[in-house]
Amino acid sequence: MAQHSTQPAAYAPQVMARCSALGEISEEAGRLTRRFATPALEAAMLAAAAWMRGAGMTVRRDNIGNLIGRYEADRPGAKTLLLGSHLDTVRDAGRYDGPLGILVALACVQQLADSGTRLPFAIEIVAFADEEGVRYHTAYLGSKAFIGQFDAQLLASIDEDGISLSEAIRRAGGDPAALARDARASHDLLGYCEVHIEQGPVLEALDLPVGVVTSIAGQSRFALSFSGAAGHAGTVPMRLRHDALCAAAEFVLLTEALACETKGLVATVGQLWAAPGASNVIPGHVTLSLDVRHQDDGVRLAAIEYLRQQAADLAERRGVALEWEKVQENPCVPCDGALTAQLERAIEACGLRAHALPSGAGHDGAILASAMPIAMLFVRCAGGISHNPAESVREEDAAAAIEVLAAMLAGMARTRKEG
Ligand code: GLV
Ligand code: MN
Ligand code: MN
Repeated sequence: MAQHSTQPAAYAPQVMARCSALGEISEEAGRLTRRFATPALEAAMLAAAAWMRGAGMTVRRDNIGNLIGRYEADRPGAKTLLLGSHLDTVRDAGRYDGPLGILVALACVQQLADSGTRLPFAIEIVAFADEEGVRYHTAYLGSKAFIGQFDAQLLASIDEDGISLSEAIRRAGGDPAALARDARASHDLLGYCEVHIEQGPVLEALDLPVGVVTSIAGQSRFALSFSGAAGHAGTVPMRLRHDALCAAAEFVLLTEALACETKGLVATVGQLWAAPGASNVIPGHVTLSLDVRHQDDGVRLAAIEYLRQQAADLAERRGVALEWEKVQENPCVPCDGALTAQLERAIEACGLRAHALPSGAGHDGAILASAMPIAMLFVRCAGGISHNPAESVREEDAAAAIEVLAAMLAGMARTRKEG
């Protein structure tokens, strides 16, 4: 007996309530922060696992910490469609970046279960464990392990509390030695479709609840340091200083200038630590992060080369040493034409315009794309604000996303039955 209306959009209030419930599960009081392999992420995974079971799914965890719920097909030996998104967050995050995609997918499965429907393919919803890369600076640990592309050298990485990645995985109940065995075979997969908030202002400006993603921008992350000489703020004359923070400041501004004058380029210094860190001491050592993105890999790589040269030049001029370490690099990834066309047809079947737009943000699909077709549905978010507690999604837009994803599942089911 169906417990809910079988109209997909009727599940939107539940999706919103669950996004809010997950938004309360945090490492920090008063703000939402849920990094990889923390007790807060474990608690969010447990809540999602219970909801998956409630939707008739079998649930498992892999060793990196991804949660995978499976809803069986109407026949044995059927292929599987992956849906999902991530449950980790940035620091002081909004409540929709990641969870919305998992919960919209779960709403579709709940609707199938409530109406006693099975499709000619299985559905697996994956709640990825690390899309943001906040704890170990390199993103996509969950999706890389999922497709067998985890780099074991990363296990020695240390977080800000001195805990190695290997130890963090163990503390969260995983076995770091078994990561390679978790690789999900892709021969039976139809692909991966992720619903995600847009994190930008385009859909709002067009007054559209959803849009379809064309590609995920290429992204590079670096760890830089400038080392000069700490000294007395009252006694060392300005022209004799080797101030590492002034070097970093010059670098931050030239990075901004380059991005402002290069169409489509975005470049961000999001973290900066000055040591020793006292108001009366000249900063002797500064470390900073650099994140550079563009839809065209050539433009991104040329920008990085320019920034590296500028950093070296200014370091030499200021008498400070520069260290430049690449921590992550992903090329621009196009979404799959056929799977995206399914999504576009679903949007149109719901009476909406299928506006196509690129993603400047990174997503687990950028990693999965090397193993399977991927597609993404963007959902309008207020003011395009994201990575910010003010992130906001309307219930009616969540309803539109559920309807579109349900229509895509129905369309794929028809295609497979006819084919
Ligand atoms: C993830 O949100 C990223 O794009 O950095
Ligand atoms: Mn994010
Ligand atoms: Mn995200």
